[in-house]
Amino acid sequence: MGIDVHVELRARDTVKAVERGDIIAIIDVLRCSSTIVTALANGASEIIPVPTVKKAKQMKQRHPDYILAGERKGLKPKGFELGNSPRDFSHERIDEKVIILTTTDGTKAIESAKGATHVLIGSFLNASAGGRRLYEIARKKNCGISLIACGKKGRISIEDFLCAGKILETLPTDEYVLSDSALAALLASKGTGKRISELVRSGEHSKALEEIGLVEDVELCLGVDHYSIVPVFLNGKITL
Ligand code: MLT
Repeated sequence: MGIDVHVELRARDTVKAVERGDIIAIIDVLRCSSTIVTALANGASEIIPVPTVKKAKQMKQRHPDYILAGERKGLKPKGFELGNSPRDFSHERIDEKVIILTTTDGTKAIESAKGATHVLIGSFLNASAGGRRLYEIARKKNCGISLIACGKKGRISIEDFLCAGKILETLPTDEYVLSDSALAALLASKGTGKRISELVRSGEHSKALEEIGLVEDVELCLGVDHYSIVPVFLNGKITL
């Protein structure tokens, strides 16, 4: 029997995927997912997603050795050590460190998936590895797959939609039953080809990052398959 595959287009619909009992991949290309993948690839020992700046600061007080990172309105909040730019998470700064991360949408979406048995973090940076892992787990557990294209503040984001399609491109599609949104994401990704950067740069989130001088992050987050790691969210922590 084919594996059911869904793409949810807003973070708040993560709950539907949890109810279906699916394995979930959270996708927030700009920039939460890409930052998490980069941080773990560069040696961070774990990442703790936290919903608010206040809670993040409280955790830092309890654990002064943890690194406080994240963004609000795209920028590093006052008193934080790192922002939410993948460029901040170099091996030198974060190797073997625990990171407290709070972002506007991404970390909340991750937290909202905590009722699911398997939650992975997906991005362009680890698209093929993510696709492989989703397939393996769905086959083994005999469950469906949900890709959560988080979007921004309750609205669809082109980069998350295209990334969901890119991950679907890596799956052997004859073994799947795609929902209409999954089929649309797959077709969009196939049709986009090498124009990913041009299309994402025309999107709202990319323009917002460009306005605050962070356009370099956009290009970085669009690097397909730079890493072969797949972060897993379990018991409140993201690890490899
Ligand atoms: C988010 O989680 O809302 C994003 O990662 C925002 C950003 O840093 O661009």
